[in-house]
Amino acid sequence: MEVFKVTGNGALSGKVHIGGAKNAALPILAASLLTEQAVELHNVPDLSDIRSMVAILQHVGAQVDKIGDGHWRIQAKNLSHSAPYDLVRRMRASVCLLGPLVARKRRAEVSIPGGCVIGPRPVDLHIKGLKKLNCQVEISNGYIHVDAQAMRGGRVFLGGRNGSTVTGTANIVMAAVLAPGTTLLECAACEPEIVDLCHFLVKMGAKIEGIGSPELTITGVERLHGCDHSIIADRIEAGTFIIAAAMTRGNVRIEGIAPRLLGAFLDKLEEAGLPLEYGAKSIQVKAYTGSLKPVDVITLPHPGYPTDLQAQLCALMTQTEGISILTERIYPNRFMHVPELQRMGASISIEGPSAIIKGSSSLSGAPVMASDLRASAALVIAALAAEGTTWIQRIYHLDRGYERFESKLAAIGGRIERLPASAIPAELLHDAQ
Ligand code: EPU
Repeated sequence: MEVFKVTGNGALSGKVHIGGAKNAALPILAASLLTEQAVELHNVPDLSDIRSMVAILQHVGAQVDKIGDGHWRIQAKNLSHSAPYDLVRRMRASVCLLGPLVARKRRAEVSIPGGCVIGPRPVDLHIKGLKKLNCQVEISNGYIHVDAQAMRGGRVFLGGRNGSTVTGTANIVMAAVLAPGTTLLECAACEPEIVDLCHFLVKMGAKIEGIGSPELTITGVERLHGCDHSIIADRIEAGTFIIAAAMTRGNVRIEGIAPRLLGAFLDKLEEAGLPLEYGAKSIQVKAYTGSLKPVDVITLPHPGYPTDLQAQLCALMTQTEGISILTERIYPNRFMHVPELQRMGASISIEGPSAIIKGSSSLSGAPVMASDLRASAALVIAALAAEGTTWIQRIYHLDRGYERFESKLAAIGGRIERLPASAIPAELLHDAQ
């Protein structure tokens, strides 16, 4: 197993280019199964989650070839209808196979994805949506079995107790584009990654109206065709680098991302007093003197503040002057990073779904444990501003969703190295027990 060794080293400075969005690329790779013809995708990030999705596409019978950097060709002439537990358990997004298999095969067997450290992640809305499209759905032996022989368009309301569902919306849209008749999808997720999926489907010949809004009207077509598509930029990667720059009072230009993808996030950082300048496809974080102000944030479905940037903001708020409150409305238990930040000297308490963060903490390096993808990023961000050296274990979580994270950070002055776990000084681990 590998670890990161991070040493706090002052202000970051330079430029970072943002890669393709993981959460757009995953459903779009799955959607490539909707046609027998070849699909070419560009700007696909090089991540372990992408490799897991490629393995699943190959398992169901697609020919998948990497043509160049970020450039893949997928052709699904013949498909099987089943995605086994062994592959699905590696990544929750493999549930996105349901929609395309149902649409192409009129039958699907997809293992129910397992639990997840960020909290319960049910699939009841996915199932409800398929039933509204007149599919018969049964759960048995850990699998979702769908018989879609009689599938047709219908009215589907996808709101749950925490709002809409991102991958649930992806599944229902992917099924509906090949379902006879018209589907009215209400309370659809509006995340930019869903917008990108819809644009991809339209390029394949799908008929979707209302893209980007919570109400989608989908008119089923008989077949879709191949196309070329470039994945949108990763707003969560961009937000992570913006916070890393702010954490070190750095001067960093984030390139290749339209600021409008990060509206609620940038609004909160402006409220905290972070100087930012915007271009059409760039965001300049400027060095500041004095302290940032605390903020109160509630995570919400898009266009609200994204849950995938909550842990990173939590690290930054330890350095403001005052008390910040971060409330989770998507995953009320997504605070696994908090005990690790506390080990580094942060003063944070958890009250129900909220983290109460006292600012002006002096952080110091420590051996810490990453628990999920975004929590890993929060620990790196904290380590960049900590006195001394932080050893971050279980960084395979970070590799799921950040492409070349350490080399991008090192290029702007971060002191970060990927090392074998055996490099951690034994006395540090001994003291930590
Ligand atoms: N929910 C239900 N029933 C369902 C589905 C979801 O109640 O059938 C609830 C969930 O428990 C949660 C809320 O609805 O409270 C939203 O969950 P959603 O289904 O939107 O999440 P997801 O589609 O499984 C995607 C991203 C996550 C991101 C969430 C929220 C992908 C592949 N994953 O997950 O990304 O946190 O939306 O924005 O798109 C990450 O990248 O680190 C990550 C976890």
